[in-house]
Amino acid sequence: MSSWSVLPMFSLLAVAAVCAVSGSMDLPGSLDPSLLENVDVDQLRSNYLPPGLQNTNLTVDDLQKLLQSKCQKANDHLPPGSVNATALSKTIEQSAIKLFECLSGLANVTEIQAEIAEATPKGDLDVVFEKYCLRMPQAKGCLKEFNDAILPCLTADEKRHNGVLQRIADKLLEFICYKNGDQIALFIAEKGPECLTDSRDGIANCLNASFAGYLPKEFSPEWNLPQLVLGPKQCVDLYEFETCTVNLLEKCEVITPSNIVESMFRYVRRESSCQPHIDRAKQQHRRAAPLSEADSRSA
Ligand SMILES: *[C@@H]1O[C@H](CO)[C@@H](O)[C@H](O)[C@H]1NC(C)=O
Ligand SMILES: *[C@@H]1O[C@H](CO)[C@@H](O)[C@H](O)[C@H]1NC(C)=O
Ligand SMILES: *[C@@H]1O[C@H](CO)[C@@H](O)[C@H](O)[C@H]1NC(C)=O
Ligand SMILES: *[C@@H]1O[C@H](CO)[C@@H](O)[C@H](O)[C@H]1NC(C)=O
Repeated sequence: MSSWSVLPMFSLLAVAAVCAVSGSMDLPGSLDPSLLENVDVDQLRSNYLPPGLQNTNLTVDDLQKLLQSKCQKANDHLPPGSVNATALSKTIEQSAIKLFECLSGLANVTEIQAEIAEATPKGDLDVVFEKYCLRMPQAKGCLKEFNDAILPCLTADEKRHNGVLQRIADKLLEFICYKNGDQIALFIAEKGPECLTDSRDGIANCLNASFAGYLPKEFSPEWNLPQLVLGPKQCVDLYEFETCTVNLLEKCEVITPSNIVESMFRYVRRESSCQPHIDRAKQQHRRAAPLSEADSRSA
């Protein structure tokens, strides 16, 4: 799961955060927001932040303030007092916990790993994925509920992009469960997880190269969270990340994982309106560097 959570950078930013948190906290028994205090922030920091940001003192409290400030700014055009940013951000926090509980109730990563290990030698991987893919509609429902909680804290621009981002998230789930998990079963049988693990550092570099610009050099409570939009710049950056990652995975022992990841990107990209922006960027790049490596390869 953590391997897949790096891919849908924007629409699933929040979900990815939840998955990341899930790796470093005990499972909540109830909807108690105070359980956020059990999150091991140090572990999160060392695992998920770019190296340049690992020495900052970012606390859960800071994150809550960032969220609250986002909710406030998104509603600045409304009369003062008409929106309670504290209440909105608390609702988002609770929804994130609820989403986490929902998803972990549908798919326990530990159990899935055990089931995969047992099914692989028997060639029964498809049975495992069929079982989980039948739960897809519930997973989509949970995502929808979480999305509804974020909506009041989005700017007009972000709201306009929200529909596309939601479709992309749905498409991603559909891709994973295409033909009841055929693709993901193939991915695992063909050493996809090993390939991702071996390429982890490289993928981190790809992430940094494409998205470092969205994070501040140093965190501070005054920092504004990035806009959750899929504009021309985000499209081109995502495509760069795609190319970088696919090139990396091509070097694995087996080519299948790279092919599957590439078709996943393509499948999701079709759902966005990114293609014209990507084509334009490619054209400009060609004009600027007519003898680049990419061109000589495609010629
Ligand atoms: C982090 O906090 C500690 C204690 O509050 C402080 O001494 C240290 O300078 C802070 N580090 C950074 C990078 O802000
Ligand atoms: C805003 O919501 C918070 C949390 O629900 C509440 O404690 C606070 O009193 C509310 N503030 C106003 C001004 O209504
Ligand atoms: C996942 O499964 C393991 C092993 O069965 C269990 O110990 C753990 O509590 C489960 N986690 C959740 C979220 O149910
Ligand atoms: C991340 O990317 C930035 C900007 O491209 C670069 O300056 C920095 O050295 C990179 N950091 C790492 C650890 O690769």
